[in-house]
Amino acid sequence: MPLWYGGDYNPEQWPEEVWAEDVALMRRAGVNLVTVGVFSWSRLEPSEGRYTFGWLDRVLGLLADGGIRVGLAVPTASPPPWFSLAHPDALTVTRDGVRLTHGSRDTYCVSAPAYREASLRITRALGERYRDHPALAMWHVHNEYGTPCHCDHAAAAFRAWLRERYGGLDALNDAWTTAFWSQHYSDWAQITPPRATQYLPNPAQALDFRRFVSDEMLAHFREQRDLLRELTPEVPVTTNYVLAGWASVDHWKWSTEVDLVAIDDYPSGPGMAAAEQTAFAADLARSWAGGRPWLLMEQATGYVLGPRKGPKEPGEIARHSMQHVARGSTGVMFFQWRASRGGAEQWHPGMVPHTGPDSRVFREVSALGEALERIPAPYDGPLVEAEAAILWDEEAWWAAQGPGLPSSEIDYLAAVQQAHRVLWRQGVPTCFAHPSHDLPTYRAVLVPSLYLISDEAARNLAAYVEGGGTLVVSFFSGITDEHTRIRLGGYPGALREILGITVEEFRPLGEPVELPEFGRATLWSEVVHLDGAEAVARYPGGGPAVTCHRLGDGTAWYVSTRLDDPGYAQVLTRAGLAGSGVPGVEVVRRRDLVFAVNHTEDERPVPVQGTDLITGKPVGGRLGPGGYVVVRP
Ligand code: GAL
Repeated sequence: MPLWYGGDYNPEQWPEEVWAEDVALMRRAGVNLVTVGVFSWSRLEPSEGRYTFGWLDRVLGLLADGGIRVGLAVPTASPPPWFSLAHPDALTVTRDGVRLTHGSRDTYCVSAPAYREASLRITRALGERYRDHPALAMWHVHNEYGTPCHCDHAAAAFRAWLRERYGGLDALNDAWTTAFWSQHYSDWAQITPPRATQYLPNPAQALDFRRFVSDEMLAHFREQRDLLRELTPEVPVTTNYVLAGWASVDHWKWSTEVDLVAIDDYPSGPGMAAAEQTAFAADLARSWAGGRPWLLMEQATGYVLGPRKGPKEPGEIARHSMQHVARGSTGVMFFQWRASRGGAEQWHPGMVPHTGPDSRVFREVSALGEALERIPAPYDGPLVEAEAAILWDEEAWWAAQGPGLPSSEIDYLAAVQQAHRVLWRQGVPTCFAHPSHDLPTYRAVLVPSLYLISDEAARNLAAYVEGGGTLVVSFFSGITDEHTRIRLGGYPGALREILGITVEEFRPLGEPVELPEFGRATLWSEVVHLDGAEAVARYPGGGPAVTCHRLGDGTAWYVSTRLDDPGYAQVLTRAGLAGSGVPGVEVVRRRDLVFAVNHTEDERPVPVQGTDLITGKPVGGRLGPGGYVVVRP
C-alpha cells in the first residue's frame, strides 16, 4: 500500500469551476487522499433534516474519477447557524458563565441533548449515503475535540460521571477534601462544574472536570464511531488530535478507541526548534498508537502559530514530513489543500498558496508527493525500537495546571519537551509511556515533573528500577495521589523510597544558581535529605541538588531543580544514556528502513550506507545541507 498524501479539501469554499483544476493539480502533486467536509455541516444540512448532498456527490465523483480517495468527515465540530438559533441551550458556556454565540467554530456543548441528536442525525445521513462510495477510505469524526462547556447540561452530565466514579458522596467528599472551606456536599445537586469562583477553586474538582470533559467528548466520538461501524464495518474511523499546549483529552485512553491514531502538528518553528517539536509530536503519536502506524492528519506548509506567521524555509516541508513518516505515519496530510481567500483562516497557508500552483510551495509539495511514492507504507507492527521512554500523562499535566501551586512557572509540557529534545539531539530513539505501562525493555525512563502519580504507577516505577532500569526523575514529581492530595511525610511522597531521598521544603528560585558540572539551575530548588542516595551535585549552600540511588539492580536519579539543556544532558550522560548522534542530523530506523534527515545548512556525516530510495543514488556516508535519504540497508 502506498503512503497517503493530501490534506483537508474544502471545495465548498470555491466555485465549481475550480474543482476540476483542483483534481488535476492533486494528481500532479501525487495527492491520493483528501479529507472532505470537516466544516461543511451548514452546506450539507441547510435546515433541520433537509440535506443538500448534490455538491458533495459531484465532488466525490470527481475525486473518485481522479483516483483520489477520501477521508469523509462527520462535520460535528461546527454546527450550522440554524441549529444554534433553534437550540441556544446547546451553545458553549465558559467558566465565567458567558454563553458564546455563533460565528466561529466549535461552539457547542457536547452534553447538550439537541447537539448529540443532531450529531447522530448528520452522521447517519452521511453514512447511509456514502457507505458504498468508491472514494471512501476512512471516516474522520469531528475535528480536534477540545471544547469544554460549563452549562447546566454539562453540570448534569458531570454529576452523572461523578456518581459513576465515586459511587457515593462520602467518597467524593473525601477525594475532593471538601472539609476545606466548607465545601462538604450533602446532595449531588449541589455539585457544579468548576465555574468562576471568588478565589481559588478546588483542585480535585478542577481535575475531575478535565477527566470528565475528556470522557464526555469520547462518549460523543463513540456514538458516531459505533454508528459508522455498523454501516461500514470495514472502513476505519478516526479523529484528529490537537497537540501543542492544549491537552484537551486523555490521549492514552482515546487511542484505544480510534481505529487509527491521527494527529495535527503545528511546530512553532523555525529551524531546529521546529525539527525538535516535529520529532516530539511524531514520537508521541507513535507511542499513543502502541508503536504501530498512525497518521499525520494535518500539518502546514508554513508556520501558523505565534505573532509572526510565514512560510516554512525551503526544504522544511519535506524534512518535517520525513520525520513523521520515519516514525510510523502512514501518510502526510496538510491543512489545507488550497489557501482560502476569505474566512477566519484566510492567512493560513495551503498546499496551493494564494499565488497559485506556479509557486515554490506548490513545487515543493509536488516534489514531496513524488518522493513519498517511493517509500513503502509502514508495516502494521511495532516500528521503531526505543531505548528510552519518557513518562507522559495528561492527568498529571492537568493536576499541575491546578490552582495555588508553589510556583506558577512550572511547565509540564516544557519539562517533557526538554527531556525529549535532549535525547533527540543525542540520537537516542525515544518513545513515551504512561506511568502504569510495562517499562522493562527501556534502558532508561525519564520522569519530568510528574506532579501526580498513582500508587500503581509508583509500584511500577519501583519494579522497573529494582529489575535493573535507570530512572531519571525531575523536580515536582510524585507529589500527589490521583485526587491531587499531597502525599505526606516528605516529598516526593510516591518516589521517596525509590529515590532514596526526602525533600523537606521547596525553595522556588528567584536568581539562577550554578551547580558544579551541571551548570545553571533556575526556577526551583529543594531542601533534599539523603536516605540512601548519594549527592552527585550540591547547591552552593551545600544541600544535595542531583542525587543517585542504587535500588535492586537499577539506579534512580533525582534532579531537584531545573537545569538548562546541557546540564540535563550531563545528568543523562552520567546515568549512562549518552547517544552518539551527529548534531543536527536525525537518523531513525523504521523496521527495515533507515531515514536520515540533515536539519543543518552544512554537509554532515551520516552513519548510513546503501541506496537512497528517493533518488536511486548511493549514500556515501555524507548528507548535503538540508537533505534527507531513505535507505534499506
Ligand atoms: C487545526 C484545525 C484546522 C485548522 C488548522 C489551522 O488545528 O484542525 O481546522 O484550523 O488548525 O492551523
